[in-house]
Amino acid sequence: MKNKKIDELFSEGKWLLCPPNYFDVKYEINPWMNLDKTPLSAVASEQWKVLHHTLIRLGAFVEYVKPSKEQPDLVFTANAGLVKGRDVVISKFRHPQRQGEEAIFRDWFEKRSYNVHELDNGSFEGEGDALFVGETLFCGHGLRSDADSYSEVCRLLNVKDHVLCELIDPRFYHLDICFCPLNESIALYNPWGISEQSVEIMKKKIELIPVPRKDAERFVCNSVVLGKNIVMPAGCIETEKELQKRGFETYPVELGEFLKGGGAAKCLSLRLEN
Ligand code: ARG
Repeated sequence: MKNKKIDELFSEGKWLLCPPNYFDVKYEINPWMNLDKTPLSAVASEQWKVLHHTLIRLGAFVEYVKPSKEQPDLVFTANAGLVKGRDVVISKFRHPQRQGEEAIFRDWFEKRSYNVHELDNGSFEGEGDALFVGETLFCGHGLRSDADSYSEVCRLLNVKDHVLCELIDPRFYHLDICFCPLNESIALYNPWGISEQSVEIMKKKIELIPVPRKDAERFVCNSVVLGKNIVMPAGCIETEKELQKRGFETYPVELGEFLKGGGAAKCLSLRLEN
Protein backbone atom coordinates (compact mmCIF):
# COMPACT_ATOMS: atom_id res chain seq x y z
CA MET A 1 0.00 0.00 0.00
CA LYS A 2 2.82 2.35 0.97
CA ASN A 3 4.08 2.79 -2.59
CA LYS A 4 0.74 2.94 -4.38
CA LYS A 5 0.23 6.11 -6.32
CA ILE A 6 -2.96 8.08 -5.73
CA ASP A 7 -4.05 7.36 -9.35
CA GLU A 8 -3.81 3.64 -8.75
CA LEU A 9 -5.81 3.86 -5.54
CA PHE A 10 -8.62 5.72 -7.31
CA SER A 11 -8.39 3.82 -10.57
CA GLU A 12 -12.13 3.47 -11.12
CA GLY A 13 -12.74 7.07 -12.01
CA LYS A 14 -14.43 10.03 -10.43
CA TRP A 15 -18.04 9.90 -9.32
CA LEU A 16 -20.49 12.46 -8.04
CA LEU A 17 -22.68 11.54 -5.07
CA CYS A 18 -25.05 13.49 -2.84
CA PRO A 19 -25.47 12.51 0.82
CA PRO A 20 -29.09 11.60 1.56
CA ASN A 21 -29.70 14.12 4.38
CA TYR A 22 -32.96 15.32 2.81
CA PHE A 23 -33.84 12.27 0.72
CA ASP A 24 -37.58 11.67 0.97
CA VAL A 25 -40.71 10.81 -1.00
CA LYS A 26 -42.63 14.10 -1.12
CA TYR A 27 -44.37 13.65 -4.48
CA GLU A 28 -45.14 10.78 -6.81
CA ILE A 29 -43.50 11.01 -10.24
CA ASN A 30 -42.88 7.32 -10.86
CA PRO A 31 -44.91 4.21 -9.99
CA TRP A 32 -42.57 3.24 -7.12
CA MET A 33 -43.09 6.46 -5.19
CA ASN A 34 -45.96 6.34 -2.73
CA LEU A 35 -46.68 9.13 -0.28
CA ASP A 36 -47.91 6.50 2.17
CA LYS A 37 -44.61 4.62 2.07
CA THR A 38 -41.93 7.16 2.78
CA PRO A 39 -38.32 6.12 3.44
CA LEU A 40 -36.90 5.89 6.95
CA SER A 41 -34.14 8.46 6.96
CA ALA A 42 -31.89 6.69 9.47
CA VAL A 43 -32.04 3.47 7.42
CA ALA A 44 -31.51 5.33 4.13
CA SER A 45 -28.50 7.04 5.64
CA GLU A 46 -26.95 3.70 6.67
CA GLN A 47 -27.65 2.16 3.26
CA TRP A 48 -26.10 5.12 1.47
CA LYS A 49 -23.01 4.93 3.70
CA VAL A 50 -22.49 1.29 2.76
CA LEU A 51 -22.83 2.13 -0.95
CA HIS A 52 -20.44 5.06 -0.58
CA HIS A 53 -17.90 2.99 1.30
CA THR A 54 -18.13 0.13 -1.21
CA LEU A 55 -17.47 2.46 -4.15
CA ILE A 56 -14.42 3.96 -2.46
CA ARG A 57 -13.11 0.56 -1.39
CA LEU A 58 -13.28 -0.57 -5.03
CA GLY A 59 -11.27 2.38 -6.30
CA ALA A 60 -13.78 5.17 -7.00
CA PHE A 61 -12.83 8.77 -6.23
CA VAL A 62 -15.96 10.43 -4.92
CA GLU A 63 -16.98 14.07 -5.10
CA TYR A 64 -20.08 15.50 -3.44
CA VAL A 65 -22.87 17.88 -4.13
CA LYS A 66 -24.38 19.50 -1.06
CA PRO A 67 -27.84 18.15 -0.16
CA SER A 68 -30.75 20.58 -0.44
CA LYS A 69 -33.81 20.61 1.77
CA GLU A 70 -35.99 21.67 -1.16
CA GLN A 71 -34.90 18.82 -3.44
CA PRO A 72 -35.53 15.37 -1.94
CA ASP A 73 -34.45 13.58 -5.17
CA LEU A 74 -31.09 15.39 -5.45
CA VAL A 75 -29.49 12.23 -4.09
CA PHE A 76 -30.07 10.64 -7.52
CA THR A 77 -27.06 12.35 -9.08
CA ALA A 78 -27.11 10.20 -12.24
CA ASN A 79 -29.77 12.68 -13.33
CA ALA A 80 -27.50 15.73 -12.93
CA GLY A 81 -26.48 15.66 -16.58
CA LEU A 82 -24.09 13.85 -18.89
CA VAL A 83 -20.33 14.40 -18.76
CA LYS A 84 -17.79 13.83 -21.51
CA GLY A 85 -14.26 15.06 -20.91
CA ARG A 86 -14.62 18.58 -19.47
CA ASP A 87 -18.03 19.11 -21.10
CA VAL A 88 -21.34 18.52 -19.43
CA VAL A 89 -24.92 18.81 -20.66
CA ILE A 90 -27.11 19.66 -17.67
CA SER A 91 -30.41 17.80 -17.39
CA LYS A 92 -33.75 19.34 -18.19
CA PHE A 93 -36.18 17.43 -16.03
CA ARG A 94 -39.56 16.40 -17.33
CA HIS A 95 -41.27 16.89 -13.97
CA PRO A 96 -41.43 20.36 -12.38
CA GLN A 97 -40.75 18.78 -8.97
CA ARG A 98 -37.17 18.08 -10.02
CA GLN A 99 -36.48 21.17 -12.10
CA GLY A 100 -35.07 23.00 -9.07
CA GLU A 101 -32.14 20.58 -9.17
CA GLU A 102 -30.92 21.98 -12.48
CA ALA A 103 -29.47 25.19 -11.01
CA ILE A 104 -27.76 23.27 -8.20
CA PHE A 105 -25.99 20.93 -10.61
CA ARG A 106 -25.20 23.73 -13.06
CA ASP A 107 -23.57 25.67 -10.24
CA TRP A 108 -21.58 22.63 -9.10
CA PHE A 109 -20.10 22.12 -12.58
CA GLU A 110 -19.50 25.82 -13.21
CA LYS A 111 -17.56 26.17 -9.97
CA ARG A 112 -15.28 23.39 -11.17
CA SER A 113 -14.73 25.02 -14.55
CA TYR A 114 -16.51 22.48 -16.73
CA ASN A 115 -17.87 23.68 -20.07
CA VAL A 116 -21.52 23.69 -19.09
CA HIS A 117 -24.13 23.24 -21.83
CA GLU A 118 -27.89 23.44 -21.69
CA LEU A 119 -30.52 22.28 -24.13
CA ASP A 120 -32.85 24.81 -25.73
CA ASN A 121 -35.88 22.52 -25.85
CA GLY A 122 -37.13 19.17 -24.74
CA SER A 123 -36.39 17.06 -21.70
CA PHE A 124 -33.23 15.14 -20.98
CA GLU A 125 -32.46 13.38 -17.70
CA GLY A 126 -28.70 12.98 -17.98
CA GLU A 127 -26.86 9.75 -17.31
CA GLY A 128 -30.08 8.26 -15.96
CA ASP A 129 -31.07 7.96 -19.62
CA ALA A 130 -27.79 8.15 -21.54
CA LEU A 131 -24.99 5.65 -21.11
CA PHE A 132 -21.68 5.43 -22.95
CA VAL A 133 -20.31 2.15 -24.23
CA GLY A 134 -16.93 3.15 -25.57
CA GLU A 135 -17.62 6.00 -27.99
CA THR A 136 -21.25 5.03 -28.55
CA LEU A 137 -24.00 6.71 -26.56
CA PHE A 138 -27.06 4.60 -25.74
CA CYS A 139 -29.97 7.00 -25.44
CA GLY A 140 -33.13 6.14 -23.51
CA HIS A 141 -36.27 8.00 -24.56
CA GLY A 142 -40.03 7.82 -24.45
CA LEU A 143 -40.72 8.29 -20.76
CA ARG A 144 -38.44 10.99 -19.32
CA SER A 145 -36.05 12.14 -22.05
CA ASP A 146 -37.19 13.14 -25.55
CA ALA A 147 -35.72 11.32 -28.53
CA ASP A 148 -35.28 14.71 -30.23
CA SER A 149 -32.99 15.98 -27.46
CA TYR A 150 -30.24 13.56 -28.38
CA SER A 151 -29.13 15.16 -31.62
CA GLU A 152 -28.28 18.27 -29.62
CA VAL A 153 -26.72 16.33 -26.73
CA CYS A 154 -24.48 14.49 -29.22
CA ARG A 155 -23.54 17.68 -31.03
CA LEU A 156 -22.64 19.46 -27.79
CA LEU A 157 -20.55 16.56 -26.53
CA ASN A 158 -19.08 15.69 -29.91
CA VAL A 159 -20.53 12.16 -29.85
CA LYS A 160 -20.35 10.59 -33.29
CA ASP A 161 -22.38 7.46 -32.73
CA HIS A 162 -25.62 7.01 -30.82
CA VAL A 163 -28.35 4.40 -30.52
CA LEU A 164 -31.91 5.31 -29.56
CA CYS A 165 -33.44 2.97 -26.98
CA GLU A 166 -37.19 3.28 -26.61
CA LEU A 167 -38.42 2.76 -23.05
CA ILE A 168 -41.91 1.32 -22.85
CA ASP A 169 -42.78 0.54 -19.22
CA PRO A 170 -43.41 3.39 -16.75
CA ARG A 171 -42.08 1.20 -13.94
CA PHE A 172 -38.73 1.13 -15.72
CA TYR A 173 -38.68 4.77 -16.68
CA HIS A 174 -34.95 5.45 -17.10
CA LEU A 175 -32.42 3.65 -19.30
CA ASP A 176 -30.22 2.92 -16.26
CA ILE A 177 -33.04 0.75 -14.88
CA CYS A 178 -33.16 -1.22 -18.14
CA PHE A 179 -29.62 -1.45 -19.43
CA CYS A 180 -26.29 -1.92 -17.69
CA PRO A 181 -23.15 -2.16 -19.85
CA LEU A 182 -20.60 -4.41 -18.10
CA ASN A 183 -17.83 -3.62 -20.57
CA GLU A 184 -17.64 -2.72 -24.26
CA SER A 185 -19.02 -6.06 -25.40
CA ILE A 186 -21.72 -7.20 -22.94
CA ALA A 187 -24.56 -5.64 -21.00
CA LEU A 188 -27.39 -6.68 -18.73
CA TYR A 189 -30.80 -5.68 -19.97
CA ASN A 190 -34.37 -5.69 -18.79
CA PRO A 191 -36.51 -7.13 -21.62
CA TRP A 192 -39.74 -5.61 -20.20
CA GLY A 193 -38.40 -2.09 -20.31
CA ILE A 194 -37.15 -1.64 -23.88
CA SER A 195 -39.10 -1.97 -27.14
CA GLU A 196 -38.32 -5.03 -29.27
CA GLN A 197 -37.30 -2.86 -32.21
CA SER A 198 -34.76 -1.01 -30.07
CA VAL A 199 -33.43 -4.25 -28.60
CA GLU A 200 -32.75 -5.53 -32.13
CA ILE A 201 -30.74 -2.41 -32.94
CA MET A 202 -28.87 -2.50 -29.61
CA LYS A 203 -27.91 -6.13 -30.23
CA LYS A 204 -25.97 -5.07 -33.31
CA LYS A 205 -23.67 -3.08 -31.02
CA ILE A 206 -23.44 -5.16 -27.85
CA GLU A 207 -24.35 -8.63 -26.51
CA LEU A 208 -27.41 -8.35 -24.26
CA ILE A 209 -27.94 -10.65 -21.28
CA PRO A 210 -31.60 -10.66 -20.15
CA VAL A 211 -32.22 -10.46 -16.40
CA PRO A 212 -35.09 -12.30 -14.68
CA ARG A 213 -38.26 -10.29 -13.97
CA LYS A 214 -37.78 -10.50 -10.20
CA ASP A 215 -34.29 -9.00 -10.45
CA ALA A 216 -35.41 -6.38 -12.97
CA GLU A 217 -37.96 -5.22 -10.39
CA ARG A 218 -35.25 -4.98 -7.77
CA PHE A 219 -33.39 -2.71 -10.21
CA VAL A 220 -30.52 -5.07 -10.93
CA CYS A 221 -29.73 -3.11 -14.11
CA ASN A 222 -29.12 -0.14 -11.83
CA SER A 223 -25.69 -1.41 -10.81
CA VAL A 224 -22.38 0.46 -10.76
CA VAL A 225 -19.65 -1.17 -12.81
CA LEU A 226 -16.10 -0.62 -11.56
CA GLY A 227 -13.95 -2.75 -13.84
CA LYS A 228 -14.65 -6.37 -12.94
CA ASN A 229 -16.52 -5.35 -9.77
CA ILE A 230 -20.26 -4.86 -9.84
CA VAL A 231 -21.94 -2.92 -7.03
CA MET A 232 -25.55 -4.02 -7.24
CA PRO A 233 -28.83 -3.87 -5.32
CA ALA A 234 -29.08 -6.77 -2.83
CA GLY A 235 -31.47 -9.66 -3.42
CA CYS A 236 -30.75 -10.34 -7.10
CA ILE A 237 -29.37 -13.84 -6.62
CA GLU A 238 -29.87 -15.21 -10.13
CA THR A 239 -28.15 -12.26 -11.79
CA GLU A 240 -25.38 -12.40 -9.23
CA LYS A 241 -24.69 -16.03 -10.16
CA GLU A 242 -24.74 -15.17 -13.85
CA LEU A 243 -22.24 -12.35 -13.31
CA GLN A 244 -19.95 -14.53 -11.21
CA LYS A 245 -20.06 -17.24 -13.89
CA ARG A 246 -18.80 -14.62 -16.33
CA GLY A 247 -15.88 -13.68 -14.10
CA PHE A 248 -17.28 -10.59 -12.33
CA GLU A 249 -17.10 -9.97 -8.59
CA THR A 250 -20.42 -8.93 -7.11
CA TYR A 251 -21.01 -6.53 -4.22
CA PRO A 252 -24.67 -6.55 -3.21
CA VAL A 253 -25.76 -3.51 -1.22
CA GLU A 254 -29.15 -3.21 0.50
CA LEU A 255 -30.87 -0.15 -0.98
CA GLY A 256 -34.52 -0.79 -0.09
CA GLU A 257 -35.15 2.75 1.16
CA PHE A 258 -34.02 4.22 -2.18
CA LEU A 259 -36.23 1.81 -4.11
CA LYS A 260 -39.12 3.70 -2.47
CA GLY A 261 -37.96 6.72 -4.46
CA GLY A 262 -37.54 4.61 -7.60
CA GLY A 263 -33.76 4.37 -7.61
CA ALA A 264 -30.80 2.18 -6.64
CA ALA A 265 -26.99 2.11 -6.92
CA LYS A 266 -26.42 3.65 -10.35
CA CYS A 267 -29.07 6.34 -9.90
CA LEU A 268 -27.18 7.43 -6.79
CA SER A 269 -23.95 8.06 -8.70
CA LEU A 270 -22.85 10.06 -11.74
CA ARG A 271 -19.70 9.24 -13.68
CA LEU A 272 -17.54 12.34 -13.92
CA GLU A 273 -15.17 10.79 -16.46
CA ASN A 274 -16.35 9.48 -19.82
N1 ARG B 1 -37.53 9.78 -7.80
C1 ARG B 1 -36.62 9.96 -8.87
C2 ARG B 1 -37.38 10.26 -10.16
O1 ARG B 1 -38.42 9.72 -10.36
C3 ARG B 1 -35.73 8.76 -9.03
C4 ARG B 1 -34.66 8.91 -10.05
C5 ARG B 1 -33.89 7.67 -10.35
N2 ARG B 1 -32.81 7.95 -11.16
C6 ARG B 1 -32.30 7.17 -12.14
N3 ARG B 1 -31.20 7.53 -12.72
N4 ARG B 1 -32.92 6.10 -12.57
O2 ARG B 1 -36.95 11.00 -11.00
